[in-house]
Amino acid sequence: MLDLAEINLPWLDEPKMPAKGDYAHEHTLRWKQTIDGLDGLIMVSPQYNGSIPAPLKNAIDTLYGEWENKPILLVTYGFRGGTLAAEHLETVFKIIKAHLLEPRVAITATDEDRIEAGTLADPAGLVGRSRAELDAGLRALEEAIRR
Ligand SMILES: Cc1cc2nc3c(=O)[nH]c(=O)nc-3n(C[C@H](O)[C@H](O)[C@H](O)COP(=O)(O)O)c2cc1C
Repeated sequence: MLDLAEINLPWLDEPKMPAKGDYAHEHTLRWKQTIDGLDGLIMVSPQYNGSIPAPLKNAIDTLYGEWENKPILLVTYGFRGGTLAAEHLETVFKIIKAHLLEPRVAITATDEDRIEAGTLADPAGLVGRSRAELDAGLRALEEAIRR
C-alpha cells in the first residue's frame, strides 16, 4: 500500500525533464525505485472538480519512463464514481504509455455512505457494491502481470 500523503513527494523539483530519466534528487530516486519495483498497480483516486487531485498528478509527472507498459487497474470514487477523473487519467496514461486495464472501477460514495468528512460508515460494504467490476479488474491485472 503506497499512500501519497505518507510518501510526501515535493512538488516536481527536478532540474531536467523526467522523460530524460536523469534524476538529481534522492526523493525522486526513491520514488523511481518504488515504481520500478512494481509488476503492476491498483491506482485509487477520488475525483476533485472533474479531475484528479494535484498530488496524484505530481506523483505521476515526477517520473516518466518508469510508467511505460506498467499495468494499472484504475479505481476512482466520488459522488458519481469519479469517471471524469478516470477520463483524465486515460489521457495522461497515453502520454506516459502506461497500460490502462479494463474494466475500470468507479465507486459511487454518497452522503449516506459517510459518517462525517473523511470517515465512511461501512467501507467494506461500499467497496462491495462494486465487487463484480473489482473482481474483473483484478483478473485483468493478474493476467497482465503474468504476460
Ligand atoms: C475539492 C473537491 C472537489 C470535488 N469534486 C468532485 C467532483 O467533481 N465530482 C465528484 O463526484 N465528487 C467530487 N468531490 C467529492 C469527492 O470525490 C469525495 O468527497 C471523495 O470522498 C473525496 O475523497 P478523499 O476524502 O479521499 O479526498 C470533490 C471533493 C473535493 C474535496
